[in-house]
Amino acid sequence: MEVISGIGELKALRSCWMRPIGLVPTMGYLHDGHVALVRRAREESKTVVVTIFVNPTQFGPSEDFGCYPRAFERDVSILQAEAVDVVFAPSSAVMYPEGFSTWVEVEGITSRFEGAIRPGHFRGVATVCSKLFNIVDPERAYFGQKDAQQVAVIRKMVQDLNMNLDIEAVPTVREADGLAMSSRNAYLNGPERAAAAVLFRALSAVQEMYRAGCRDMTKMSNCMRRIVGEEKLVELDYAAIVDPASFEVVNSLEHPALAIVAARVGSTRLIDNMPLHV
Ligand code: PAF
Repeated sequence: MEVISGIGELKALRSCWMRPIGLVPTMGYLHDGHVALVRRAREESKTVVVTIFVNPTQFGPSEDFGCYPRAFERDVSILQAEAVDVVFAPSSAVMYPEGFSTWVEVEGITSRFEGAIRPGHFRGVATVCSKLFNIVDPERAYFGQKDAQQVAVIRKMVQDLNMNLDIEAVPTVREADGLAMSSRNAYLNGPERAAAAVLFRALSAVQEMYRAGCRDMTKMSNCMRRIVGEEKLVELDYAAIVDPASFEVVNSLEHPALAIVAARVGSTRLIDNMPLHV
């Protein structure tokens, strides 16, 4: 496995890599959710490239960029054990050299939910992903379904800008009590960690209602709010039923939809979602 930090170095080696190339962009501090992305990429690609870069431009000024968990050596050994071919781990100065002034802005979908609560977040994500796609030039890139709005934003960008790759969403990997795996779970203390599983319980309840034939979206959203509201340590940001591509709130459940939820558990912000379809 090669560990590369320079863009020129990576591009020079790229011509020798066997195609298809599968790219797994990450911010490191890897967990089993990342491993699932890597395994899927390994199955479908001749060359697997994993990027580790805590992207400063997707964090707001009062967010956790400074204390975002990092464990580079541990990440590298996890990736080595998964037979990854290349780790690309650039510095901020490499990705955003002085004078950097070009941004990718996906309109519409980014004004809703995560985009509304975290202004500028998706601009940073779209910009860094465009750069990584240009640098690595993969046939496919793999993202976790947990960040469903991120997946939708990146798919829209790829479609609108005619980028030459497919975006693959890999199902969320969960802890035994249903909590979606996330690097940010590391921030939770004992009671918060126990309380955090309420997001999964709320989503599961709505999925159960849907399976039982309920199509009343107000009832379903209220059910999520009520269940999350029962956990004193958890403060709900939103609970809604949306179109998985546009993230607009849906008025009918004739088409596949997504139940989404976001909440603060102590000072940690968690998001999760669950598909609603037959
Ligand atoms: O999901 C993440 O870890 C990040 O948003 C990504 C896609 C690696 C871009 O920095």
